[in-house]
Amino acid sequence: MDAREMKIKAAEAALAHVEDGMRLGIGTGSTAEEFVRLLAEKVAGGLRVEGVPTSERTARLCLELGVPLKSLDELPELDLAIDGADEVDGRLNLIKGGGGALLREKIVAAASQRMIVIADESKVVETLGAFKLPIEVNPFGLVSTRIAIEKTADRLGLSGPISLRASGDGTFTTDGGHYILDASFGRIPDADALASRLNDIPGVVEHGLFINMASLAIIAGPAGARTLTA
Ligand code: A5P
Repeated sequence: MDAREMKIKAAEAALAHVEDGMRLGIGTGSTAEEFVRLLAEKVAGGLRVEGVPTSERTARLCLELGVPLKSLDELPELDLAIDGADEVDGRLNLIKGGGGALLREKIVAAASQRMIVIADESKVVETLGAFKLPIEVNPFGLVSTRIAIEKTADRLGLSGPISLRASGDGTFTTDGGHYILDASFGRIPDADALASRLNDIPGVVEHGLFINMASLAIIAGPAGARTLTA
């Protein structure tokens, strides 16, 4: 089974949790897109759902495939969010934001009664941090914010390069008009502490640590899909 087939397996298993009439948060990334494709087939077959997309990219795919969408303001409380992740640990804490959609993903997950993560085995880690931690920042005061992040990390015994995410010849800009700093801290033993301290830095809009948000992870490997619960 190749990587794409594993993503499809995880997405298929997640679809089993979708019930008629549900209000769904729809994630971003290649795994979430497999979910959108399968969901669109069910919608074409008569399943009634309303989705809130976590990015412009996901919104475009949903519109193209006929998945009905609403804004989060129209559907402020959701039944279920289904999204991918860059890393998942044994307690279902996550690193997200590799695709740059972490802010909307976190807002949508927080507005949902449940969050299910779909991923292939390569995303499962013992300790978060091998994947660079995406930190969404306001462009104003970028250098000051970066210094504040370095000092915060240092107080927790973490260090490593923090790079401004690029896109082509320019700076990557999120759907919300912010920048992303990717922090290579390595292992993050106390993700909870780092998450709350990053939240205290004024220029930090959001970060990719999703702590205690997911209740189920569907992990697909060569032998099929397995579930992890928090
Ligand atoms: C988007 O910002 C991310 O949080 C994605 O959910 C994450 O990067 C997983 O993407 P893939 O499914 O493409 O690996």
